Amino acid sequence: MSDIAVAEKQWFGHPRGLATCFFTEMWERFSYYGMRALLLLYMVAPIEKGGLGFATEKGASIYGWYTMGVYAMSIPGGWIADKFLGLYRSVLLGGIIIATGHFLMAYPSIQTFYLGLIFIVCGTGLLKPNVSGIVGTLYSKEDVRRDAGFSIFYMGINLGAFIAPLICGPLGQRINWHYGFGAAGVGMTLGIIQYVAGKKHIAPGMARQAKNEADEREAERAEGKPSSFTTQEWKRISVIAILFVFSMLFWGAFEQAGSSLNLFADRLTRLNFLGFNFPSSTFQSVQPLFVIIFSPIFAWLWLRMGKLEPSSPAKFGFGLFFVGLSFLLLVPGAAIAQSQGIKVSPMWLVGVYFLQTVGELCLSPVGLSMVTKLAPPRIVGLMLGVFFLSISFGNKLGGYCAGFFDRLPLPKLFGAVSATTLAAAFILFLLVKPIRRLMGGVH
Ligand code: PHE
Repeated sequence: MSDIAVAEKQWFGHPRGLATCFFTEMWERFSYYGMRALLLLYMVAPIEKGGLGFATEKGASIYGWYTMGVYAMSIPGGWIADKFLGLYRSVLLGGIIIATGHFLMAYPSIQTFYLGLIFIVCGTGLLKPNVSGIVGTLYSKEDVRRDAGFSIFYMGINLGAFIAPLICGPLGQRINWHYGFGAAGVGMTLGIIQYVAGKKHIAPGMARQAKNEADEREAERAEGKPSSFTTQEWKRISVIAILFVFSMLFWGAFEQAGSSLNLFADRLTRLNFLGFNFPSSTFQSVQPLFVIIFSPIFAWLWLRMGKLEPSSPAKFGFGLFFVGLSFLLLVPGAAIAQSQGIKVSPMWLVGVYFLQTVGELCLSPVGLSMVTKLAPPRIVGLMLGVFFLSISFGNKLGGYCAGFFDRLPLPKLFGAVSATTLAAAFILFLLVKPIRRLMGGVH
């Protein structure tokens, strides 16, 4: 543990700055997922119900471009922080742009709607990768609390994602869509306030990081930088390229939560549980709640498995397998709803989200950490950007699939998503051995 960490105030045994990052990201995700829970439903709602009256296909296409943009912008966002603004100011500016975007959407006009989406895309690109970057600066390289710190941070993400639909959803769907968007903006504003107030807790880590980076650059200059990659490095880069495709397929299915599955909840699911009526956007809280409940259990399970713990590429395969299974589960649910013209039990979607969470917990934590381990050190940042791009393309793919919601019988649509991801899982399981050889000792 570094001297700085010892001298700092603690938060659950972690640097106090973790709390600042936790709540910043919690509120940012609150605003993102609160708005996202309403976005497609608002676009396809009839004009007389306050919506935009778009066809499902058009709404899904905009949804796909928007969610793709949000993650694609992480690449310039990270670059701007590195070259110009630094982490602190990038996150601050990102937060302000995001809040402005939500407030623009709180105003009912088509121009402010599109402008708001563009603001959120740009702001999230600045905030999301860089707030994770700040978490990284809180721990020295040897600090054993580092992984646990990121797990706590991931809880913040999911806490925000869990609460948001419960607040923005009913406001938007029951009172006025624009109140829902406004509530998202209020959340982001609270996040910015606590971020600025907590600046002193994150400053020492960022100062240490800046010094380390300057030292490293100096050392590289003194050594004379090696400019080409070794064969082993190329092999590892090729693993990242292979995983790119599988990651894209995973997120393409997974990120339909806010599109196809949101429409399934809205149009074909009974919105009543134990006599309690709820708006369809409430389902958006189920998956993050499962993450909060199950991530400690998974962490324990991997430890418990010891040597039997699956390798990283195998975990990727399991991620795809479970997301494929989740869509397979929905095939009979969709068939019952559409053939009998009835609304089905909410338990179908709860089951779907449970399986998807199992998939996410297999794949998501491994994905980013694998890239950091496989990429040659001098291009880690670039490779992380590439990995974010796979998530971004996955989101676009998800929007593309959702565009078929009105055009294909749903069992066919969900069956196709399931077949694709299950086939990908199967292929990946076959590739585990050769991939591990290419990884050359990295686990
Ligand atoms: N639920 C995660 C989040 O919002 C999904 C995600 C994982 C997004 C990895 C980007 C990268 O952060």
